Amino acid sequence: MRRMESAGLLSCFVAQRHPLTPSKSGSHIAMTTTIDPTQADPNAHNGEENTMPSFGQRPGHRVFIETYGCQMNLADSELMGGILGTSGYTAAPNHDEADVILINTCAVRERAEERVFGRLSHLLRYKHARPEVILGVTGCMAERLREDITERAPYVDLVVGPDAYRRLPKLIAESQEVENDPVVDVKLDRDETYEGLSPKRTPGISGWVTVQRGCDKFCTFCIVPFVRGRERGVAPDEVLRQCRDLAERGYREVTLLGQTVNSYRHEDTDFADLLELLVDVDGLERIRFTSPYPTDFTPKLIETMATHDEICNYLHLPLQSGSDDVLERMKRRYTSGEFLDLVGQIRETIPDIAMSTDIIVGFPGESDEDYQQTVDLLEEVRFDFAYLFKYSERDGTNAARQLEDDVGEDVKGERLSSLIERQEEISGEVFKNRVGQTVQVMVIGESKRDAQDLCGRSDDFKMTVFPRPDDRELNPGDFVDVRVTDATSHTLLGEPVFR
Ligand code: SAH
Ligand code: F3S
Repeated sequence: MRRMESAGLLSCFVAQRHPLTPSKSGSHIAMTTTIDPTQADPNAHNGEENTMPSFGQRPGHRVFIETYGCQMNLADSELMGGILGTSGYTAAPNHDEADVILINTCAVRERAEERVFGRLSHLLRYKHARPEVILGVTGCMAERLREDITERAPYVDLVVGPDAYRRLPKLIAESQEVENDPVVDVKLDRDETYEGLSPKRTPGISGWVTVQRGCDKFCTFCIVPFVRGRERGVAPDEVLRQCRDLAERGYREVTLLGQTVNSYRHEDTDFADLLELLVDVDGLERIRFTSPYPTDFTPKLIETMATHDEICNYLHLPLQSGSDDVLERMKRRYTSGEFLDLVGQIRETIPDIAMSTDIIVGFPGESDEDYQQTVDLLEEVRFDFAYLFKYSERDGTNAARQLEDDVGEDVKGERLSSLIERQEEISGEVFKNRVGQTVQVMVIGESKRDAQDLCGRSDDFKMTVFPRPDDRELNPGDFVDVRVTDATSHTLLGEPVFR
């Protein structure tokens, strides 16, 4: 067991946010799964706390950033915090005391957007109270809906896309000067990797580092390539610098982020090479990454994962559908058979690896038989958990242009609920199989349900709850072995073991 110095006690969310998409609001989302994009959206992170860490105060320069959506958006909010910090901006403790309110948005699904419009009209009250307050929209929705924003929320002062954050201080200053029109900068930039900038991080044990921006895959259902631009890898030295910085700040775990993270390339460095560089960073005990794209998995990468204990035994491998016809219409570049082969190869080399996936039900033209093939594939692979979505048409995507959204809302709903039900059973069985085993857990903090319990994540990403030991103190970031005595479909329960 490793014991580490760590930051103050955090409390555990028995919850799990999807790596690169928004998840259902509230803190108790089941690990298995069920994010229905048509239900009230965001986030494990509900967007109403300031995601900009605080540092000093300067009148006229107090910023409050609300973040919606995925980990990449949270990472971008930290980046904006860093950029604004070097220009003399400070974090406001709440909206009332903010001179600038930014909402960092997500556009992957419809509900996320509607919620942001609702939120904007709510935030208008701060401008009514203090007309000099600057209200800005950043992120994917800014990129996609710049015209809608200026029409539906004309009181918005600032619209800034994901490649324009370097210019944020200047853009805020401009918007403070102009009276009516919003200041808009949504230019995509195929070279922008935000090299040399330091994200402003709050103290913690798990952080993320964006290693790749944009996406070149153009899956027909997906808006990401349109709002985040072309794929580009962050230079390995820069990734190394940020990982070292995390470790120096006491972080124990890093998650490397990219839309197709394993297609990472920077000059001669591929993703496996990048991981090799990072396993040697002192103090970083665990490395995770999300999300790999199935056809970009190489034997070299599987070998690298198998070789290094620091690289966690957990993989989020998006499948989307078990039907080859649907996969083809989605332009996913693999068949269900190839996906199964890949899972087989990975499990052969790393037998105890946990896996999760993303599935979309109700994609255009999905027949009962196509759907059944997805159910069959879930049965065959037996993912530890899965994020399940109903297809929601996104304007501007190839599917929206070329395919009719012809699966009825009721059919989508039925398919989603029965898939959730089946996956819950599978997750329950997979989690129960761990009973009797010992897992290594990195402590997060106190369990939300019972202050006598602590919780943390196992190496394979399972929330694990165990009684707080009487005879020693365990702090966030400490490692402890836990013998699993029981399990639900979302959580392992056990007893700490000290040798
Ligand atoms: N490259 C990222 C994908 C980002 S979008 C990754 O691999 O995680 C995350 C997930 O949202 C996708 O895998 C897909 O399952 C879901 N999604 C994306 N667009 C969608 C849409 N139009 N309707 C429903 N679900 C969608
Ligand atoms: Fe979207 Fe497909 Fe890229 S799901 S992010 S276009 S890999």
